[in-house]
Amino acid sequence: MTRKVTKAIFPVAGLGTRFLPATKSIPKEIMTLVDRPLIQYAIDEARAAGIEEFIFVTSRGKGALEDYFDHAPQLQTALAEANKTKLLETLKATNMDDGAIAYIRQHKALGLGHAVWCARRLVGDEPFAVILTDDVIAAEKPCLQQMVEAHAETGGSVVAAMEVAPERTSAYGVLGIKKENGQIFEVSEMVEKPPAGEAPSNLAVIGRYILTPSIMQNLGSLKPGAGGEIQLTDAIAAEIGGEEGVHGFRFQGQRFDCGNKAGYLQATVAFGLARDELRDELMQYLEGMVAPRQAAE
Ligand code: G1P
Repeated sequence: MTRKVTKAIFPVAGLGTRFLPATKSIPKEIMTLVDRPLIQYAIDEARAAGIEEFIFVTSRGKGALEDYFDHAPQLQTALAEANKTKLLETLKATNMDDGAIAYIRQHKALGLGHAVWCARRLVGDEPFAVILTDDVIAAEKPCLQQMVEAHAETGGSVVAAMEVAPERTSAYGVLGIKKENGQIFEVSEMVEKPPAGEAPSNLAVIGRYILTPSIMQNLGSLKPGAGGEIQLTDAIAAEIGGEEGVHGFRFQGQRFDCGNKAGYLQATVAFGLARDELRDELMQYLEGMVAPRQAAE
């Protein structure tokens, strides 16, 4: 039987330079889709998957992110007095249990693998999840929950996978397939940001992982890989062919790359349209924008 996954690492130390100047003073994880920060989407997904301990790997300038999870007693009292029950509930949903969050500092930007490794003592000898907050996934059943269920079947490490256009593979970790088994497949190869024309497939790794504790040991002895950084992909690849192996998981849902502006804007529209109170007005606006363009074509 596989062990229950109760800990998740959120690497949030990145500078977010693609969103400058906004990220000059706010962490990119606080940027919102409609009215919820990216980090809230990630936390909610983790909770739905049964995660109980949330480990943030942070860096300088991420204070607002830490503050976000503090209780806000004054605000709560004001909302309660004004009978704003719905808003009060929304606010309470951001509260975390005492001791449920830990913050670890990544002192040097040495790569995603290094960020995850910084949390090794908090993870200990247990399987753990990693969530990259840039990847927002809209799904009926939250993606990490789908993966926890897949992991209960396969054991070992499981990585989220999605087909991308062949010309985009060099932006991702890319998987080779050893054996198909429907949604789940055994991985034969895993390469971080392969140069154009050298990718083993067009199945890219998306930022959701369930990993065995051995990954932490692998990370400890890794040499820098693609881009001169310690790569999480390389530490996972070292498990291929081992006892438990590595599985790719084709999740159900729509992924938005909120690490770039176009993806972030698309997510804003999609999450806006998903909200009952916004749908009609937003749709009307979008149709009004598109119709004259279509007529001109
Ligand atoms: C990271 C990982 C990469 C993965 C990607 C998913 O890359 O290193 O393997 O495919 O996230 O979003 P980054 O986007 O940080 O360059």
